[in-house]
Amino acid sequence: MAIEPNELPQVKNLSELAQRVAGCQRCVLAETRTNLVFGVGNPESDIFFVGEAPGYHEDKQGEPFVGAAGKLLDELLLTILGINRKDIYIGNVLKCRPPNNRDPLPDEIIKCRPYIERQIELINPLVICALGSFSTRLLLKSNVYISKVHGAPITIDNRLIFPTYHPAAALYAGTTKKILADDFKKLGDILMNITRPEKPTSAKEDEDREQMELF
Ligand code: URA
Repeated sequence: MAIEPNELPQVKNLSELAQRVAGCQRCVLAETRTNLVFGVGNPESDIFFVGEAPGYHEDKQGEPFVGAAGKLLDELLLTILGINRKDIYIGNVLKCRPPNNRDPLPDEIIKCRPYIERQIELINPLVICALGSFSTRLLLKSNVYISKVHGAPITIDNRLIFPTYHPAAALYAGTTKKILADDFKKLGDILMNITRPEKPTSAKEDEDREQMELF
């Protein structure tokens, strides 16, 4: 049975969330999708790449970024960040393909938003790379223009959001591809220098450790 948003906090891991989201009927996209595209990758990753919505190939295969834009994303990951897609987590604002790849509608984004929010909480990445306007606006909670905010990280809810252009926008525009590549270099610098803060220990844990050191 599909999950209701008020049940999401009780879902304790990504695979359970994926199972519970699978039958979603919250918006009209359920009527036209072939597969719901939940997300893939390493749930322990420090970075989560968030795109817009599945396209034709993603809808058919049930996996994000497997078409032309995905090939460019893979290339940027490997050549600039030196990482493979299986080492990161990748998902989308919308889990289902809008017909003919039209833009997501506000109602669809609002209905789907609890899923990406719970995914973020469960993955708990240090950095979220927002790919394109829809993802950037959702994650920055602001009506910004990607041309103005790309390449500059912003901390929201104690997490670094790094907005950049959507790889699809760079497929046929050399200048956008260059900007995207430059942004990925900045992202690489951020990832090299960021560390997960130490988990605060309780006074009891400190006391136990001191005791252990006695023996
Ligand atoms: N574009 C997206 O935003 N996401 C995909 O998964 C594929 C193309």
